[in-house]
Amino acid sequence: MSGGAAGGGTRSGNGPSQSVSDDPHADRQAFSGVGIRELVVLEVRFAQEGSATPHTRLAGVHLRTFLLIVVSAALSATSSDDRNNRLGSRQRKTHFPAGLRWPGDSLRGSLVSQPAGPGTPGEADRAPDFATLFGRPADLTSSAPGRVNLIGEHTDYNGGYVLPTVIPQKTFVEIARRRDRRVSVWSGGFPGDGVVSYELGSERRVGGWLDYVQGITWVLGGAGHSIGGIDARITSGVPVGSGLSSSAALEISLARGLREAFGLPVGDVPLALLARRAENEFVGAPVGIMDQMACLLAGDRHALFLDTLSLAYESLPLPTGAELAVINSGVAHNHARGDYRTRRAECERACALLGIRQLRDVGLDDLPRVAALPEPLGRRARHVITENARVLMAVEALRSADCECLGRLFDASHRSMRDDYEVSVPEVDLLVDLARGEPRVHGARLTGGGFGGAIVLLVETGHAASVAGRVADSYARRSGRTPTVLVPPPADVGA
Ligand code: GLA
Repeated sequence: MSGGAAGGGTRSGNGPSQSVSDDPHADRQAFSGVGIRELVVLEVRFAQEGSATPHTRLAGVHLRTFLLIVVSAALSATSSDDRNNRLGSRQRKTHFPAGLRWPGDSLRGSLVSQPAGPGTPGEADRAPDFATLFGRPADLTSSAPGRVNLIGEHTDYNGGYVLPTVIPQKTFVEIARRRDRRVSVWSGGFPGDGVVSYELGSERRVGGWLDYVQGITWVLGGAGHSIGGIDARITSGVPVGSGLSSSAALEISLARGLREAFGLPVGDVPLALLARRAENEFVGAPVGIMDQMACLLAGDRHALFLDTLSLAYESLPLPTGAELAVINSGVAHNHARGDYRTRRAECERACALLGIRQLRDVGLDDLPRVAALPEPLGRRARHVITENARVLMAVEALRSADCECLGRLFDASHRSMRDDYEVSVPEVDLLVDLARGEPRVHGARLTGGGFGGAIVLLVETGHAASVAGRVADSYARRSGRTPTVLVPPPADVGA
């Protein structure tokens, strides 16, 4: 599996090597709730789809085998009602101020420089270094990687499950403390802006890249954490608008750096929650918690199995029999059109009609009830419900190193995002189809929020670079777009 280390601050020692919950029983508690009925319904759906192609037929056969294995476990599975009660008492609610606008690609695209190598601070050759910008060396350098979600899309703001891992590309923030309360920042994504400054406590949304920086100092101050002014220099190799969490990589790298610089007594999960709150309430993007948790806690060659309701998480090794490839379609997602917000509102409307608080509270056995919802709410809810089940099955596939099954789940997830959730675009569908045409590809799907962005492929070990290169070439010819192979990172291609 290709991928770089998910490093944290160079002095902090608080990186994602912490990969298990503080409560050793939390994972078991959180993940015990899948019932046999859910698995049966999912299997039936897969088996029906499986009549279409040899690949999906194989998925049906595999899943039937899988069901035999889990029958005994199902005898002691938590009942749906018990599960709903347990989870319902732990729900959180986030309020979004009315009138906030979602920052568009013009904003997101301005955060960082790109492209940049995975293992370097990512600056262009002529970019000024820290000493040139601020007349002294930095005290520390903090970093956070981008993430690629393996499966579990648009489930996080519905209290569901996600399974991301890191990509080699990172965001870096070099920091030097100041004696006053001024924050002066330079971004490699906006070198023309020069050094931009503001006073701590006077953060005001400006509709630009600085909002992500201001959001973090605003949320830390609001939470009672004592920080002083800083000089900061931001660079990154995480591509923007590609569904690979450039925003969270910036938030987390800065938050980590401030934690280290000022000795803030805040753990990783609270830090992720603060970063998400900065994006929700200061920047105005109604995102879930997946990206911040992944950028903080996911490790190289491991998937982070996260229950976004309880925030229990578990680090699962990726199978050695397969590699990941990530290809950016060159179609930047444009959430400024409000598509992400619309999907979130559709889920909330579905919940209101179903009389539940969030879609996590229903399972596959509720699909008949969900099908009665007005369109498109029924399909939206069906995606979330079946996607949650697919994450749980993907976890089982990971545990048994069953790459074939994992690949089938990737394929099913993409179909669900394309047809039920309608967050794909023709270019991304073309990329996925081209990938699926490759014999050594186990599965492929759109990753991230959608409406453009990147795909993730599961490929037989030893073939990721060559397959990704062929798919990208073919896609470029047919679409006229400029794709980028991000994983394996360019330095590994042909190695
Ligand atoms: C974006 C958001 C995440 C998540 C994904 C979709 O990346 O930031 O919280 O909702 O979309 O899975």
